[in-house]
Formats: sequence, C-alpha cells, structure tokens
Amino acid sequence: MSSPRVENLLAQMTTAEKVGQLTQYFYFQVDEVEEHLARGGVGSVLFVTDPAVLNRLQKQALEGSRHQIPLLVGFDVIHGLRTIFPVPIALAASWDTDLIERAQTVAAREARAVGIHWAFAPMVDIARDPRWGRMIEGAGEDPLLGGDVAAAQVRGLQGAQLGDSDRVVAGPKHFAGYGAALGGRDYDEADISDQEFYNVYLEPFRAAVDAGAGNIMAAYMDLNGVPATGNRWLLTDILREHLGFEGFVVSDANSARDLWTHHFARDLADAGVRAINAGLDLEMAIHDPAFGHLEAAVENGLVTIERIDESVRRLLTVKEQLGLFENVFVDEAVAAQVLADPAHREVAREAAARSAVLLRNEDGALPLDADALSKVAVIGHLADSPRDTLGPWVFDYDLDETVTILDGLRARFEGRAEVTYAVGAALPERTYESMFEEMGQGTSGPPRGLTEPIDAPAELDRAVAHASEADVAIVVLGERQDMIGEGASRASLELPGDQLRLLQEVVATGTPTVLVLMNGRPLDIVWATENVPAILDVWYPGTQGGAAVADLLLGDAVPAGKLPFTWPRSVGQVPIHHAVTRSHDPSKQWRRYWDEESTPLFPFGHGLSYATFEHSRIAVDRASVGRDESVTVSVDVTNTSSVDGVEVAQLYLHQRHGTSSRPMRQLKGYRRIAVAAGATERVTFEVGPAQRRYWSAATRDWVVDASTFDVYVGGSAAAELATEFTVTD
Ligand code: BGC
Repeated sequence: MSSPRVENLLAQMTTAEKVGQLTQYFYFQVDEVEEHLARGGVGSVLFVTDPAVLNRLQKQALEGSRHQIPLLVGFDVIHGLRTIFPVPIALAASWDTDLIERAQTVAAREARAVGIHWAFAPMVDIARDPRWGRMIEGAGEDPLLGGDVAAAQVRGLQGAQLGDSDRVVAGPKHFAGYGAALGGRDYDEADISDQEFYNVYLEPFRAAVDAGAGNIMAAYMDLNGVPATGNRWLLTDILREHLGFEGFVVSDANSARDLWTHHFARDLADAGVRAINAGLDLEMAIHDPAFGHLEAAVENGLVTIERIDESVRRLLTVKEQLGLFENVFVDEAVAAQVLADPAHREVAREAAARSAVLLRNEDGALPLDADALSKVAVIGHLADSPRDTLGPWVFDYDLDETVTILDGLRARFEGRAEVTYAVGAALPERTYESMFEEMGQGTSGPPRGLTEPIDAPAELDRAVAHASEADVAIVVLGERQDMIGEGASRASLELPGDQLRLLQEVVATGTPTVLVLMNGRPLDIVWATENVPAILDVWYPGTQGGAAVADLLLGDAVPAGKLPFTWPRSVGQVPIHHAVTRSHDPSKQWRRYWDEESTPLFPFGHGLSYATFEHSRIAVDRASVGRDESVTVSVDVTNTSSVDGVEVAQLYLHQRHGTSSRPMRQLKGYRRIAVAAGATERVTFEVGPAQRRYWSAATRDWVVDASTFDVYVGGSAAAELATEFTVTD
C-alpha cells in the first residue's frame, strides 16, 4: 500500500493526468515536451544534464500540473557523468565489488547534483558473443560475477535504500536476454532455452532486484518470439512473481511504440494496450507515445483503470521516496563544485588501475624500469585520442581534462626520458551513421593535434623510425570507441585498419615492444600473443586513464584484473564461454574444429600480475554432507615473488552426475586478496545448497542434487588444483 499522499493524488487525478505520469520523453523534442509539460502531460524526461535546464523543466512541470507533481529525471549514467570511469566491462574485470560500488557512488553524486534522479544502469545482460558491441556495457559471461557486479552497482547508485541523499534510482537493464542476440547483431531476436534463461540470463537481474533496484528497463528484442516490452510472462510472471520486483518498469527507447513496427501489435493503440497489460509502467518515448492512446483504451474497456492506477502509484511512490515533492530544484553552483571534485578523479584513477588485465608478460618484460630508459616511443592513434580514452556511453565529459596514455607517459617521464609520438596507422572511419553522435556522445576523435588525414606509408615509416631509435616501444591498439557499443556489432574481431601491420613492423625493429590494448571486447590478437612479450589490456580507461596506465607500465601500480569473459582465438569460436558441459566423448573435448583448437586464447578469469601466485593445500572440511548442508573449501595462496600483489582466487565447481549434466567448470566463488611478497594467505569458500542449486529442464524446476562434486581453485577457469566432496540424500 502506498502513502496517503499518493492515494490522495490518485483519487483526484483524471485518466489523462494519470497517463501523462506514465510517459517519459527524450528532451530532444524540446517543443513537443514543453507543450506536454504545460498541460501536465509528462511524468518523466531523459537526456538533459544541464542543471539550469532541469530547474526550468521542473518549474514548468509544477506549474503545468494541477497537482504540482515534479518530474522524474532519468539519464544514461553508465560509467560516470563528468568523471568518467573505465567502461563497465573494465570495472567488472577488477572483480572488486567495493571499488565498483564506490565508482557508482561518485556517479550518483554527480548525477543528483545536476538534477538527475535515476540512472539507466547497471546493464546486466550476460554476453557470450563478442560480436555484440554492447558486451562492453555489461559484466561479461558469468552469472555469479555478473550478479555481484550488478548488486554492487545498485548499492553504489542507490545507497542503502532508495531515497538516500546524493543517490539515484538504479535501473538494471535490458530485461531480459538481450545479450543473446542472434549472430551478435544488436537488436536481433534472442532464442534462449529455459535452462539458460533461469541459470544464466536471469541471475544478474535476480541479484539486482535482491539488492533493491527501484527500476527495471524492458528490452527491445523478441525473446523466444515475443517482444520483451509486450511479454506478459516476462514482465509479470517472471519479474513480479518469480523475482518479487516491486519497483517500476520502463520501456527501452520507443520500445512500446515499436511493438507496432515489430509487427506484433496491430497499431499504435494496440501497442500501448499490450505493453501496459504485459506489465510495463512507463513508456520511454522519442515522440508520439503508444501510451497516448491509453485514455481511450480505458474507455473502451481494453485496459482497466486499476491497471493504470497500479503503474501511476509506482511512479508517484518513487518520486515521493526520492523526496521530490519537497525539494526538486538543484543549486547550480553546488552542482559545478560536485562535478569538479578532485576526490572523484582519484576514484577514477584507482578504478582504471584496478581494471587493467595483464594478458601476457614474458620474462618480466613489464614493469618498465624507468631509470634504464632514455627514449620511449609511444605509437598508435588511440594513445592520444581523448575521446577514445573515455569509451562509449558518455555525454557530459570534459575532453580537456582527459588524460590520454601519451599524456600519462609524458608526465611520468618528464625530465627523465624523451617521449616521442607517432600515430603509425589511421583507424578506419565509420561506414554507417550513428545516432549517438548526434545525441552528444561524440565521434572518436583524431589524436590531439592531428588535423590532416595521415599519409599512411609515410606515417608507418615514421612510427618504425621512432621505434628503432627508442629503448622501448609502447604500441596502443584497439577499436575506436564508436566501433563498439549500441548498434555497433562487428562480424570480425580483427584489429581494425593497418594496426596489425604497424605492430608487426615495430616488433621487427627489435626494440622491446609492449602492446597496450584499448577495447571492450576480445580482439583477434593471436599474432601478438606469439610475438609481443607484454600485453596489457586497459580497456577504455576513462578520465584518468592515461595516468593509471603510466602507473601500471612503470610498476607504481600492480595489475590484478582478471578477464570477465573467455577470450577466443578467432571469431569462428564464438560464442564461447567457460561453463560448458562435458559432451559424450570427452577425449575429443579440445579438438573439435578441423582448423582450430577448441580451447580459447585466454580462459575466463585469466590475468597476470607483476607478482606471481601459487595456490596449494586445497582442503574440504567434510568429505560428505547432506543436501541442505555446506562444505568449506580452503586454499593457500602464496605470493612467490618479491612484489606485493593482489590475487583473485577463483573456485569452480563441477557436478559429476544428477538431474541434468552440469558444466565442467562453473564459477561459484572468488576472493580478491592482497598477498605481500613471499607471504601466504589462507582463503576459504562456502559451497552450500545455494551454490549447487540450478534449474533443470528434466524436472522443469530448481533442483539440488545428491552427487559427487569436483572443486577447482586457482587464478583462472583453467585452475588445476582440485579436491572433491559428496552430497548424499
Ligand atoms: C538503449 C538503452 C538506453 C536508452 C536511453 C536505448 O537505445 O538500449 O540502454 O538506456 O536508449 O538512452
């Protein structure tokens, strides 16, 4: 039951006023929005970050509505507002939920200061196909890690409870299964078996709902033939009844309207009816909303007024919980101070350092010994492109304060070594239009100071000459930030343009070479893994990215990130992930392609450090337990190096027999622990019924089997240290 204020409002509102509350407009259509505002016909807006504009809109909303109902303001605060953090897949690679929570706390503080109340984040879609550009926005392939990252983001954005000061509502998205797009093509249909749906795709949403998320965004695509936004089973049976979600559900941009263009609804009016009856509460509309027809639908008996009231109640309740009826205006001067807070930049720098994954480091090639270097060649378009350093899904960034990798290295070597820079190879221009450019996301910029297109052969020669003269070449390669993200799928995972050739020619000079990758998906780097001794994946590292990368390359920070996805050798292995079942003939498990191994280039969970770790003395406290009981698994983690470091010890489980066949390895626990040089830490994991429970297609229900379980603990999904235990009836 909601509050007396909400019930009172509901009792006074006309159907048209109620429907107005269920409509959210993009602010691009300024005139249309302001016209609706003037007659109380808007419940929410999105895509404004200017506090002055937001104050004005709130004033219009209060004046335009008989009931003085303030606007709920939403925005894509995905990895920061002004302070830009590493992209979400990078944050997930830190496996550091405390850090992720802190980053989203900063993002929430900045958002709330300008008058935004709700972030369309976290994106919790499991992604197992790197052709899908939106894998950059999520936490990768695994439901446990994905769930933990989702919950941490919800806690960071919302605080302990919805309505906390300096926080915003979190909106996990896109419900559900969007990451399973056919062929990795964004928006394509997803056909997901029930066992995959419950065991994999739903789990991060469950974690986000359990963490108290106030909102859920419905996805665009067909899930098993029914568009998510008009899917009653999904939005009501699963979300409300199975997950127990009590907040409000928003459509994706125009996705209620699109039930019509999808050839699911008969017309626009039918689209609105089917969306609300499926369980949608708020329509996010660019223009001409389907919910514009709801008043008539109520009159015609197609939608009950009780159903409308239910949604309005949810929207008014969240406005009340946020305190918007009392205080909806923001102080523009305070907002400017909050956006400039240096403490926020510190968290961004820490996040960039903790997210990087050291993929390869032969013979201690990294860290570089600063004292032994007098000339450093930095090469690559991405090394000095501020816009690319930030990654996609940012709008309110400040390019002038963005620290590129070249900036970071120049600052670090100032007065100690000469740092040269060459673009080396141009990155290909986009071949299709991007709506996101117009929306303020911006185009991937050229490197600083580059105004003319490069003369490719001459630039390649220049880069090679720089490398030949230097003590070390730091080659920064990857994808432009606008080659990945929404509507940016790729059919190939190769390094775009002539970047591989550039790398090959630099390596051929004989100068020690370090490859730094900027990416949000695994790329085809097989050649590099055979020919370049050190490879550091820094993703799109954000506002302070270049400073953090310099810290890492020079050993002032020690890499500890781990891959949140399995890294394929080539696109032909896609989709690929670690939690696969054994097959009837395990002897052929790893050689099933005629022309390629079945093993990945890097396993899930892989990531090196300047420290080295050994896992040993695995033990289980009880060899046999009952179905409802838990075992405790303990392991020693020893730092066998002379450098202090952080290891993420990972526990994988395999059930040998049961109601279904179960994955050979499935992540069931992890511990991120600091281990001093030469020291040993004992870590423990609880493996109980919650870790062994799964949904089986044999019984079409959740089961906890009596069985024998193999347990593996180590630094990646390829862990070899093993023990076992039995669960009896
Ligand atoms: C995306 C959402 C986003 C929304 C609003 C859509 O195209 O799928 O993730 O929140 O736009 O910008």
